[in-house]
Amino acid sequence: MFNPAQIGSMKLPNRFIRSATAEFAANFDGTVIDEYYDLYTKLALGEVGLIIQGHLYIMDEGKAHDKMAGIAHDFHLDGLERIVQAIHNTATGSKVSAQLNHGGIHSVSKKAPSIPDGKKAQAMTEEDIEAVIDSFGTAALKAKQIGYDAVQIHAAHGYLVSQFLSNRINQRQDSWGGSVENRAQLLLSIYRRIRSQVGSGYPVLVKMNNSDEPREGFPVEEAIKVANWLAEEGLDAIEVSGNQSTRTKFEDEAYFSKNARRIKKNIGDMPLSVVGGFRSINMIQQLHQDFADFISICRPFIREPDLVKKFRDGKKRADCISCNKCFKPPIIITCLDKEE
Ligand SMILES: Cc1cc2nc3c(=O)[nH]c(=O)nc-3n(C[C@H](O)[C@H](O)[C@H](O)COP(=O)(O)O)c2cc1C
Ligand code: SF4
Repeated sequence: MFNPAQIGSMKLPNRFIRSATAEFAANFDGTVIDEYYDLYTKLALGEVGLIIQGHLYIMDEGKAHDKMAGIAHDFHLDGLERIVQAIHNTATGSKVSAQLNHGGIHSVSKKAPSIPDGKKAQAMTEEDIEAVIDSFGTAALKAKQIGYDAVQIHAAHGYLVSQFLSNRINQRQDSWGGSVENRAQLLLSIYRRIRSQVGSGYPVLVKMNNSDEPREGFPVEEAIKVANWLAEEGLDAIEVSGNQSTRTKFEDEAYFSKNARRIKKNIGDMPLSVVGGFRSINMIQQLHQDFADFISICRPFIREPDLVKKFRDGKKRADCISCNKCFKPPIIITCLDKEE
């Protein structure tokens, strides 16, 4: 875990990934505040191999919540570029990926694949879908131009791309709905557009649900198929997550690993990372030896941005107790566990 590794052309100092973590701190217009630089400098000084920044909206109508940062306009770019520089300036070798997102039904526009029962939503037209694909491509190119080492498509956690993947939410009767081939078309089209924008050598990643259990709209068998298609298309790495991504049960460590292992068996050489509840270095080492090329962590890095160094120095278990109090920070994402 502590040795250098590679995702596509991107050289990483180790195999620890900071999974994307919304900072809940941007200005109303999506520009970042000064506190971002300190947050990301600490993670890089803590020697996190790859830092995936909190999700960025790729177009105004895809903004998922207040205080979410954007990469939709040129005026967003200066602040983002300074985050990239802050990370690279630490000289620890930490790399940084932008995470690109559209909130779909959870966004300000409430645009969705189709209109779920009893929900206020706007079913997307062909033009809407093309605009989304285009905006993902443009955002990825901007990210590359301002120095991000990679981009990640957010295809998990109930946002737009995962809404399309789920046959429970995606009730479309056209070529974007129905079979898993059709439901995966949005993700694959976004991937292809991004690839055409950034070129073959630039790392493109996807974060995707392992299934949407306990519901049945995207079973693991379908997740395996989609991951395999992405691998065939040349995706650089997949990060496996799932619905109910932030579980609070302390003892429930590595809760998506069973299905992540099944996915890994079916994607050839494409590197895989798994996220969800990793707290102890024993479990991290064990699952890395078993199947996971990389291990992704979110909440423990909020509490201890220097956790990688601490693990290397012999710490056995992260201090985070998975209480989820950090979701509503006063200024920027921070550990709010009172007993700290
Ligand atoms: C405060 C907070 C913000 C999050 N923001 C994002 C996000 O922007 N994008 C994303 O893909 N996941 C996000 N997540 C989910 C995490 O990346 C991760 O998948 C989840 O917390 C499980 O990992 P953990 O047990 O190591 O925290 C967020 C989680 C938390 C707690
Ligand atoms: S507030 Fe709770 S979940 Fe969040 S970092 Fe602190 S201990 Fe972990």
